[in-house]
Order: sequence, then C-alpha cells, then structure tokens
Amino acid sequence: MIDDIDRIMAVMASSFDPAWGEAWNRRQVEDALSFDSCHYYLVSAQGKPVADDESAAGFSLSRTGYEEEELLLLAVDPEFRRLGLGRSILDALKLAASGRGAKRLLLEMRRGNPAQTLYSSFGFYQIGERKEYYRTPCGDRIDALTFACDIG
Ligand SMILES: CC(C)(COP(=O)(O)OP(=O)(O)OC[C@H]1O[C@@H](n2cnc3c(N)ncnc32)[C@H](O)[C@@H]1OP(=O)(O)O)[C@@H](O)C(=O)NCCC(=O)NCCS
Repeated sequence: MIDDIDRIMAVMASSFDPAWGEAWNRRQVEDALSFDSCHYYLVSAQGKPVADDESAAGFSLSRTGYEEEELLLLAVDPEFRRLGLGRSILDALKLAASGRGAKRLLLEMRRGNPAQTLYSSFGFYQIGERKEYYRTPCGDRIDALTFACDIG
C-alpha cells in the first residue's frame, strides 16, 4: 500500500508553481492531518477514490469547523488537468463535508488564480478580501479573496 502522505506530496510537488509559494511541505501536511478536524481526499486519474496500489492524480485537504468546512488545498497533477478531476474532488468534498455537518464550504485564494473559474462554476461566491495578504517568494504582495459555497 502506498502511503497517503507520499501520494499527497507527489501531487503537491508537480502541481504548485513555486513562483507563488503556495505548496505545503510534508511537515505542514502531517501537522494538519494530526488533527481530527482535518481531512484529505485522493482522486485517481479516472476520477475515482484511489485504490491502495494506485498513485493519486489530485487531492484536497480540508478542515471541519462549526457547520463549515474550509478547503485548505486543492490540486490536480498538470498531466491530468481539464478532465474534470478538480470538479470531482469538489463533489466528493461537498458530500463528505455535508456528512460531517457542514452547511457551507469556505476557501481562500490569491487574486488571479485561474482556479476561480472552477470555484465559481461550482457555486462559490466571494465573501471577503484581504488586501496584500500573501507575499510571494520574490516579495510581491497579493490580495487574498475569500469564497463560500452553500451546501446545507
Ligand atoms: C485548480 C485545479 C485544481 C483545477 O483542476 P482541474 O482538474 O484541471 O479542473 P477541472 O478539469 O475539474 O475543471 C473544471 C472547469 O473549471 C474551469 N477551469 C479549471 N481550470 C481552469 C483554468 N486553469 N483556467 C480556466 N478555467 C479553468 C473550466 O471551466 C473547467 O471546465 P473545462 O475544462 O470544460 O473548460 C488545477 O488547475 C490545479 O491543481 N492548479 C494548481 C493548484 C491550485 O492553484 N489550486 C487551487 C488553490 S489551492
């Protein structure tokens, strides 16, 4: 059986452009998943939950709060993009979060991330903005946009 954190880290390494400094390191993932409130989902290249002997094509990390679930990270390996896997991960998250009692999903992203098209088509709408919240590795400041999606 392949270790799930290895599978997450493999997708992490291929999916995030280092220019933005958004990828988490293994320690950050392990720390997050040491809390019962944090969850992950691994999707195969066929859009199904991964089998024990399969590598992952994408993943999500999320955190349960009171009647809410925050999407912390969503990534699909570039080789498998625009095949509907990102959407299928959001579908799985919605179902799982709903089962955990969430009435809405939350997320935060940097302004200009093309993932916004996916989020908007899924039903996310903007609820907030933090001016110059993120700093890239080369020092640029970027606004953070906060979104919610009602699922309850
Ligand atoms: C965002 C991401 C997860 C999308 O994964 P994906 O599997 O390609 O998404 P899907 O195939 O399900 O996309 C569904 C729809 O969303 C929209 N969409 C997805 N990616 C898009 C992009 N880069 N530009 C514009 N629209 C996009 C399209 O409408 C797409 O439908 P279409 O392909 O029929 O036009 C992937 O691009 C990724 O891992 N990006 C890097 C990590 C990241 O920025 N994550 C989000 C912040 S944590």
